[in-house]
Amino acid sequence: MADGAGTRHRVILAIETSCDDTCAAVVMEAGEIRSNVIASQGLLHARYGGVVPEIASRHHLELVDAVTADALERGGVGLDEIDTVAVTHGPGLIGALLVGLSSAKALAAARRLPLVPVDHLHGHVVASTLGADPVETPYLCLVASGGHTFLARVDDPARYTVLGQTLDDAAGEAFDKGARLLGLGYPGGPAVDRLARDGDPDAFEFPISAPGELDFSFSGLKTSLLYRIRDLGDEAEGRAADLAASYQRAIVDALTARTAAALERDGLERLAIGGGVAANSRLRTAVGELGVPVWVPSVELCTDNAAMIAGAARFLEPLAYPAYLNLDASARL
Ligand code: KG4
Ligand code: ZN
Repeated sequence: MADGAGTRHRVILAIETSCDDTCAAVVMEAGEIRSNVIASQGLLHARYGGVVPEIASRHHLELVDAVTADALERGGVGLDEIDTVAVTHGPGLIGALLVGLSSAKALAAARRLPLVPVDHLHGHVVASTLGADPVETPYLCLVASGGHTFLARVDDPARYTVLGQTLDDAAGEAFDKGARLLGLGYPGGPAVDRLARDGDPDAFEFPISAPGELDFSFSGLKTSLLYRIRDLGDEAEGRAADLAASYQRAIVDALTARTAAALERDGLERLAIGGGVAANSRLRTAVGELGVPVWVPSVELCTDNAAMIAGAARFLEPLAYPAYLNLDASARL
């Protein structure tokens, strides 16, 4: 068991609805994942080129009960065997968060169970403490998703300290916006990753801005991709794979350079990565070359999921019934 976990949450049911995935999971206190159900709304939002908050909330409402029932069934437990309910209360889309929070409160209150409100980002940070080979503290975690990009130091899994973060776009946003410029679909990260396999990562130079020792900035990158595509004119289509590979290299180089700097500055000897961009094949290879052991969770644990929310809840104090009934969701924590 990772340090810090008590004996209070033997079987945890977690719900996560902060963005466009409706998620529920059953996780044991020691970190064993019994089930991790993810109902992705990705295709519903693809035609709009991004997540539409109102549509996300409505679909969460339609899906949350079935996804929770599925998580319990796959986890082989009944509601009566749950000791603690955990739920994401922010940050995220406020309407989406409220659906999960209300559902979790109702499930917990009906059985007078304790409830643990969890910071979504804390979930990403501790995803690697789950499963058969949990990362031990202290470690550095690089979280790169569609909404967030930061480096966190973890000395105790109950909390984390942000060492550096993006000052503008998140890394996933850079992938998504780059993909749109290249005429690829949404979400753009997996599409750029696939196209980049056939391209030369050294074909084009993209500037990597360094706003601070451990901070990131990705907004200039998409502008330089836009200019490069304009300059190429009719040739751009034929060079799409080279553009994707070079653009991906620039994002991954920026992530790994700050990660290496943070490891060195803080003298940390273990690295974990998380967030949707941690599914990127180039990033997964590049972090393996930083000279420290790296924990790279499975793709389902990198992208939004409820197992990581239960994972964080293991280390937190629950709220007893009825203290959580007036708990609110928060778009920004
Ligand atoms: O963590 P996540 O599922 O949701 C947020 O909390 O944002 O991350 C989604 C982001 C999207 O921007 C998506 O394009 C990116 O992760 N992503 C990838 C890959 N798979 C997902 N980016 C690069 N390469 C991938 N293979
Ligand atoms: Zn996330």
